[in-house]
Amino acid sequence: MRLKVAVLPGDGIGPEVIKAALRVVRALADIAGFEFQSKEFLIGGAALEESGFPLPKATLDACLDSDAVLLGAVGSPKFDDLPRDRKPEAGLLQLRIALGGYANLRPAIAYNSLTECSPLRSNVVAGANVLFVRELLGGLYFGEPRGIEAHSAWNTMRYSEAEIERVARVAFEQARQRRQKVTSVDKANVLETSQLWRSVVNRVSSDYPGVSLEHIYVDAFAMHLVANPKRFDVVLTENLFGDILSDEAAAITGSLGMLPSASIGGAVNLYEPVHGSAPDLAGKNLANPLGAIASVAMMLRHTAAMHREADEIESAIRSGLAQGYRTADIHRSPDEQQVSTTEMGTLVEEALTAAVIRRQAYHAV
Ligand code: NAD
Ligand code: IPM
Ligand code: MN
Repeated sequence: MRLKVAVLPGDGIGPEVIKAALRVVRALADIAGFEFQSKEFLIGGAALEESGFPLPKATLDACLDSDAVLLGAVGSPKFDDLPRDRKPEAGLLQLRIALGGYANLRPAIAYNSLTECSPLRSNVVAGANVLFVRELLGGLYFGEPRGIEAHSAWNTMRYSEAEIERVARVAFEQARQRRQKVTSVDKANVLETSQLWRSVVNRVSSDYPGVSLEHIYVDAFAMHLVANPKRFDVVLTENLFGDILSDEAAAITGSLGMLPSASIGGAVNLYEPVHGSAPDLAGKNLANPLGAIASVAMMLRHTAAMHREADEIESAIRSGLAQGYRTADIHRSPDEQQVSTTEMGTLVEEALTAAVIRRQAYHAV
């Protein structure tokens, strides 16, 4: 098995968390016996500084020629005043369109050892495990017309039936492999796009009789998500709602640094932690790399069908946390040992290597 991956570290803490994730997957490749071939390319502010473009052609070509793309984060206060199309973030949006992954999977899991980390009561979050399926290539992010003038600005929310149907199918397929429940989040009491969304989702649901479907308005959902996250399994929603609600879900897990993502369904899948470039932490070796490391696990699962290895990475993350190791964002009590980004990467790598060796020894006898 050979996996050819274009790695785009990007800006701020992006390169720091990606370094930790690469360390983990390289160790796994060595020991589990697959070839992990990776090469780094520029995106975002780092690319703007070098070439004047947030997504240089060399980066895009390399991504399209890979089995998967692993991205850190983009964005820097240095570029905040540039017009929208020339910002670092535009590079990421162009990349998402070019790769074509329309279903953005964002799992938010309240790990047992982190329930005290959440600002929510631990009995509220314990056991929560929600998978957001965020539509990624439509809605307000890309709708035309859009524009800005001296005293007004406008964006367009537009969805076609086909765009809704394909992402809805992903949500129902995921629910089939989980707890058989889809919650579709919209604003059908106000928006035409949401009325269409609801009717297409209802139609798709008839192909999945074993999966239950509920519709909730986005404002009420925002409340239910923190009041009782355990009632949700798969949450299907449009682009902007999914962006906002998945960051909200980070509060259930303890930190935004915990969340991974996979953008699937296109020519090449894109894997990235949910968080941004965190300029407040950049260069300090403080960032939590677990979202980036868990994104690599999603890569093994969704691109390489290496389910066992993906599970092993996730178990290694749990085991590091269970032993009390915490980056600053999830460090709460003096019993826990605070570690840096680099140290957390090493700890996960060590736990993973030990587990794989144990598994191999077990199968050898
Ligand atoms: P952010 O996600 O960078 O940070 C929000 C908060 O979460 C900050 O307090 C930060 O310190 C904390 N945080 C984020 N990741 C963390 C980690 N791994 N470990 C510990 N703490 C972490 O969001 P922001 O501050 O709103 O945006 C900063 C920049 O990142 C902006 O330019 C924005 O456009 C960009 N951004 C990029 C992406 C992406 O590349 N996918 C996502 C979101 C934001
Ligand atoms: C995310 C980010 C991006 C988004 C930005 C940086 C374009 O917030 O990946 O969640 O809005 O999708
Ligand atoms: Mn976001």
